[in-house]
Amino acid sequence: MSQPTPIDAAIHPASVPQRTLSTGAKMPAVGLGTFGSDHVSPQQVADAVLGAAAVGYRHFDCASVYGNEKALGVSFEKLLAGGHKREDLWITSKLWNDKHNEDDVIASCRKSIADLRVGYLDLYLVHWPFPNFHAPGCDVTSRSADAKPYIHENYMKTWRKMEELVRLGLVRHIGTSNMTIPKLKLVLRDAEIKPAVNEMELHPHFQQPELFKFVVENGIEPIGYCPIGSPGRPERDRTPEDTAPTEDPVIVDIARRHGIHPAVVCIKWAVQRGQTPIPFSVNNYRANLAGVVSDPLTEEEMRQIAALDRNCRLIKGQVFLWKEGQTWEDLWDIHGEITPP
Ligand SMILES: NC(=O)c1ccc[n+]([C@@H]2O[C@H](COP(=O)([O-])OP(=O)(O)OC[C@H]3O[C@@H](n4cnc5c(N)ncnc54)[C@H](OP(=O)(O)O)[C@@H]3O)[C@@H](O)[C@H]2O)c1
Repeated sequence: MSQPTPIDAAIHPASVPQRTLSTGAKMPAVGLGTFGSDHVSPQQVADAVLGAAAVGYRHFDCASVYGNEKALGVSFEKLLAGGHKREDLWITSKLWNDKHNEDDVIASCRKSIADLRVGYLDLYLVHWPFPNFHAPGCDVTSRSADAKPYIHENYMKTWRKMEELVRLGLVRHIGTSNMTIPKLKLVLRDAEIKPAVNEMELHPHFQQPELFKFVVENGIEPIGYCPIGSPGRPERDRTPEDTAPTEDPVIVDIARRHGIHPAVVCIKWAVQRGQTPIPFSVNNYRANLAGVVSDPLTEEEMRQIAALDRNCRLIKGQVFLWKEGQTWEDLWDIHGEITPP
């Protein structure tokens, strides 16, 4: 009889599924989110990075706006000094909204690389398609005084600098985040280096089937954020309509059958569906990775979860609205064309 696996045993990174990007590069199909928001300190997230690497994570989703890249850099430096090869890690960072200006893109990327102490980035994303700044921790009613809509010409100026980052060897891949089909169509039309990934909200209650299909058909890898439904997000980011996938009776039932937490069902579903989830965790990261390499959900369970979509967007982006009288739906081009300025 084989020995039971100890609860803290490492999962071999080679057993974690990989995505092949349009460049042929391989990216682990699950990563660790690092947005501690206002309840998990930079040091706690930095400790989680070390712990997660020890149990087999090789993919880390970072961003300058998370305010912890310096602390994470200490962890990455330890990993590299401790025998991890740089090429075995997949490190993502993101350009924040107040750095879209042509003169700011390269400097901002260099700062993230220096803070993270990783030499180069595997992936650098334009975090949001709006250059609108708001202070960390602000209320959803907050607006920046000079807020702007999506202006494709300006986005492309930013994107040209993103392309330059690839040519300079500072980043291996560039990508988009929080985009819509009409915006992506324009970027695909005009880009010299096409986005390798699009990072987007994806969980059982928000499956974005059209956007998901669009990016896959265009050779863009979907990375799914809030894969568990972000149960730890602050009160100010919640609305009464929001639902929690981890409380969905279907997910709870599947979790019970597999003897796992409903959060792990969400992660298993994401990887099996074909997106790359980046669950945040400082306490449960091992269970999430173990879920990805253990007995898969059945086809019937996958069908049951596919039927749970409620079009329930949790990260609505209200702070990026640019004029009075708008609703958050205006940010997401729900009528199939870019919302006019
Ligand atoms: N591109 C973008 O605009 C964007 C936007 C939002 C988020 N993101 C990225 O996506 C990442 C994930 O999103 P998120 O942090 O909002 O939400 P999430 O990953 O859906 O949820 C994280 C929460 O779930 C809990 N959790 C994780 N695994 C669990 C398990 N097995 N059992 C029970 N609870 C579990 C965590 O608590 P514990 O720590 O206690 O485990 C944490 O409170 C972020 O960290 C960030 O890297 C990107």
